[in-house]
Amino acid sequence: MLWLKALHLIFMVTWFAGLFYLPRLFVYHTMSEDQPSLDRFKIMERKLFFGIMTPGAILTIVFGLWTWYANGWGAYAGTQWLHVKLALILVLVIYHIYCGKLLLDFKHDRNRHGHVFYRCLNEFPILILVAIIILAVVRPF
Ligand code: HEM
Repeated sequence: MLWLKALHLIFMVTWFAGLFYLPRLFVYHTMSEDQPSLDRFKIMERKLFFGIMTPGAILTIVFGLWTWYANGWGAYAGTQWLHVKLALILVLVIYHIYCGKLLLDFKHDRNRHGHVFYRCLNEFPILILVAIIILAVVRPF
């Protein structure tokens, strides 16, 4: 059970490393103009998204659900924190998919946003992370 939770947290950190770094790469990508840099950013973004972020997301969810199953599906009955956490995770998954869409736009040289947009986008997962950690650790309700 504790091993499942440890793996859940390890993959959560992996997922968030990508969620924080990918929009950062988009900022630098937007600001570069020479072809070798543009090509290099495309490779870095693809490897980060498909090699780190997406496996991290899937394994976080798998080990989260597994931890829940190991504790018993009824273990959190009467509390609301896990339901709110799951709703925030749904928002995070939508954000993740949106990042994938932006990645494809860059891949096909269709990016239409400036670096300020990506700097703002970068703040979004921080808010979700803070909310989920408070829900999971403090369990206010
Ligand atoms: C579908 C996705 C997820 C499910 C089903 C899930 C479920 C769970 C469960 C059942 C626990 C164990 C609670 C206990 O010890 O009784 C847990 C712990 C935890 N989860 Fe998740 N989780 C998911 C995603 C996430 C994400 C995305 C994050 C971070 C942003 C996260 C952060 C944590 C933390 C920090 C703990 C440790 C809480 C503690 O023991 O103090 N989880 N999760």
